[in-house]
Amino acid sequence: AEVVIVENAPAAGALVADEIVRLITAKPDAVLGLATGSTPLPVYEALAHRVAGIDVSRVRGFALDEYVGIDPAHPESYRSVINREVVEPLGLDPALIRTPNGQIDGVEHAGADYEAAIEAVGGVDLQILGIGTDGHIGFNEPGSSFASRTRVKTLTEQTRKDNARFFGSIDDVPMHCITQGLGTILRARHLVLLAFGAGKAKAVAAAVEGPVSAMLPGSAIQLHEHVTVVVDEAAASELT
Ligand code: F6R
Repeated sequence: AEVVIVENAPAAGALVADEIVRLITAKPDAVLGLATGSTPLPVYEALAHRVAGIDVSRVRGFALDEYVGIDPAHPESYRSVINREVVEPLGLDPALIRTPNGQIDGVEHAGADYEAAIEAVGGVDLQILGIGTDGHIGFNEPGSSFASRTRVKTLTEQTRKDNARFFGSIDDVPMHCITQGLGTILRARHLVLLAFGAGKAKAVAAAVEGPVSAMLPGSAIQLHEHVTVVVDEAAASELT
């Protein structure tokens, strides 16, 4: 992977937003892989400033994951989060931006449907990734198969704790999610993994330099030929 160490999160956002603008300019119907959580926010903020004057009406997007059993209208469903943080500020067409269907009704074929939808548009051009403190990407927790495709998973206690800040209390965090698999993520043409802060340093080092292991889902990026890792000094501090 190419590792880029930047001064702070806004600098990372600017760098990745520039890359996305180049992509959309060259390919107006580019397919973006969208992460949620705190990490990609500087990218979306920087992009919102840069897309004025660019035609984004054909840009397509696929979120990494969604909670299962959450109403899509719930403010913390990833459908709502993606609408609020990406679709609206960038002026994208919401019909072209998909999230996995986490509603109980139909969840048994939601994974296969999502894979087919990604395939139908020719795959993801640029996948934005964050990384969990335990090394997860998407919601692929330790032990996830590198060949996995979009499917329902159980969230770990740690991830539910990490995400409790969005729900007020851990009891309100859903128990299950539907996430792109590591195998799905690895099919994107360019992976851009971002991480900020000392809390991510170990996970970043394991992903970039550690043994490739299902116990460190982020290490799957070592199997991909086009990866850019954008980190601040603190997140880079455990890299050799
Ligand atoms: C979000 C996702 C997760 C997050 C990870 C880091 O779509 O798939 O893997 O990227 O949990 O979360 P933050 O960025 O909030 O630290």
